[in-house]
Amino acid sequence: MGGGDLKAKFLEVYALLKSELLNDSAFEFTPHSRQWVDRMLDYNVPGGKLNRGLSVIDSYKLLKGQELDDDEIFLSSALGWCIEWLQAYFLVLDDIMDGSHTRRGQPCWFRVPKVGMIAVNDGILLRNHIPRILKKHFRQKPYYVDLLDLFNEVEFQTACGQMIDLITTLVGEKDLSKYSLPIHRRIVQYKTAYYSFYLPVACALLMAGEDLEKHTNVKEILIEMGTYFQVQDDYLDCFGAPEVIGKIGTDIEDFKCSWLVVKALELSNEEQKKFLYENYGKEDCASVAKVKELYNTLKLEDVFAEYESKSYEKLINFIEAHPSTSVQAVLKLFLGKIYKRQK
Ligand code: IPE
Ligand code: IPE
Ligand code: MN
Ligand code: MN
Repeated sequence: MGGGDLKAKFLEVYALLKSELLNDSAFEFTPHSRQWVDRMLDYNVPGGKLNRGLSVIDSYKLLKGQELDDDEIFLSSALGWCIEWLQAYFLVLDDIMDGSHTRRGQPCWFRVPKVGMIAVNDGILLRNHIPRILKKHFRQKPYYVDLLDLFNEVEFQTACGQMIDLITTLVGEKDLSKYSLPIHRRIVQYKTAYYSFYLPVACALLMAGEDLEKHTNVKEILIEMGTYFQVQDDYLDCFGAPEVIGKIGTDIEDFKCSWLVVKALELSNEEQKKFLYENYGKEDCASVAKVKELYNTLKLEDVFAEYESKSYEKLINFIEAHPSTSVQAVLKLFLGKIYKRQK
């Protein structure tokens, strides 16, 4: 089955899961409340690249070593959607916290008229849909408890990652000297790598009957890959085309510990550092433009291109050192999906 077919099937599973959630007997829906959830889900769940969700199906197929039957496609898709639901939950809340404007080519959910801070509860609802889906479709599976535990662990790590991403920027201590590569690494591993890279593969491993404790080396490689992915995200925040990435960057305004500012600090002379201290983390366009100007002077685009090829090489070496060829195939496929991505 080709990638397009797989995606079409994957989207069919979305429609089914949504209709189950809209008819969940634990809540007495009215037409009005059902319509709200329906619209909220369509707005926030399926519109991304779907890398995380599709990777569960791809990975499971590679681990199994043969074509999947309909039931296996359905189950791996349902798990994939649980991760996309988790993604929607994090993004709805992340956009509020970061004061973002657009996401996936449309206004952030909280910016939609009549939504506003109802988006906070919608985020909570999205999060609560995950155990509903898991209970309905995985309750009888021998790996059910491990699956619940996995989602809980990873959600906790992500929430902690978001916390350190946010508290690192606190005003009053607007001090760029505290930003360094190790601090950046710690933030992005927690906020992005666990849920975006480890979680999809861990779901496939559980479905394949594997014990996750025996796969700590796979986890380490996926965390490295997730770090690389978030560096790309930090780069695209400033250098990506908003029409392509579907979002307008806010990292400079938000005083984020982005890979770009860490690199800029490393490469700046005293004068440039002072300039950065004066302009980073300010809301006005003129200050933002000055920071971007400095990034250009320091040739951060080239520094990133260099980082990108180095990371790729390093990851391929790690992957090829792994003893299992099916695990190697899983990791290479995932890496191939993100290498030199423009969105
Ligand atoms: C955005 O993730 C949030 C990060 C962890 C960087 P993606 O770039 O995968 O977003 P979508 O789901 O494809 O929109
Ligand atoms: C968000 O990182 C990571 C999570 C949503 C957990 P960012 O704040 O950099 O993501 P974008 O750039 O808004 O997509
Ligand atoms: Mn954000
Ligand atoms: Mn970002």
